[in-house]
Amino acid sequence: MRIAVLVSGHGSNLQALLDANLSGQIVGVLSNKPTAYALQRAHVAGIATQTIEHQNYASRDAFDQAVHAQLLAWHVDLVVLAGFMRILSPAFVTQWEGRMLNIHPSLLPKHKGMHTHAKALEAGDTQHGCTVHFVTAQLDSGQSLAQGVLTVNVDDDQDSLAQRVHKLEHKIYPLVVEWLCNKTLVYQANGEVLLHEKKLHDPVQIFEE
Ligand code: GAR
Repeated sequence: MRIAVLVSGHGSNLQALLDANLSGQIVGVLSNKPTAYALQRAHVAGIATQTIEHQNYASRDAFDQAVHAQLLAWHVDLVVLAGFMRILSPAFVTQWEGRMLNIHPSLLPKHKGMHTHAKALEAGDTQHGCTVHFVTAQLDSGQSLAQGVLTVNVDDDQDSLAQRVHKLEHKIYPLVVEWLCNKTLVYQANGEVLLHEKKLHDPVQIFEE
């Protein structure tokens, strides 16, 4: 399994994937921001990088086509979005259906979009966490595969939640990517997802230790 990781920032999830000894191979790291620290991490790991700056493209479609061309050039089987902060067009997403994952810092379907920790606190949620899901044309809405779950404490604030959620992300993302690499998890042509050969209805929940 040849994997590309798409990033925009710090790249701690990329690092967790690099450290995970996956049975697949990370063949390229693509960023839409030249300053993303994630690119340094890829360099250190000896992995090819490419920066495609969205502001250099006249339209979202033109940017997406450039990303798509790079993924094809790397002969990618699986696209892993790891803090990639660009919305991808439906045309692009459709081409990678069942072959593109994202991690989102909330227990989807709760709190789509940005500022998820603030939203969880504001809503008075007793549980919060992160979700790994397949990417579909609707934002943060593809089938959820695994969730990292924590209990919100009375003294939690946005920073403490961000820190705890990140730790869970680093645990569940490599796990799900490896499931795809070793075919424990399979996306079928009819859109159904099998985990250990059984249809997956709800995401696997992994609780904070
Ligand atoms: C992660 O918390 C990830 O869940 C979030 O960006 C962060 C990237 O951190 N992604 C989204 O909000 C996507 N909607 P990292 O660069 O250290 O991996």
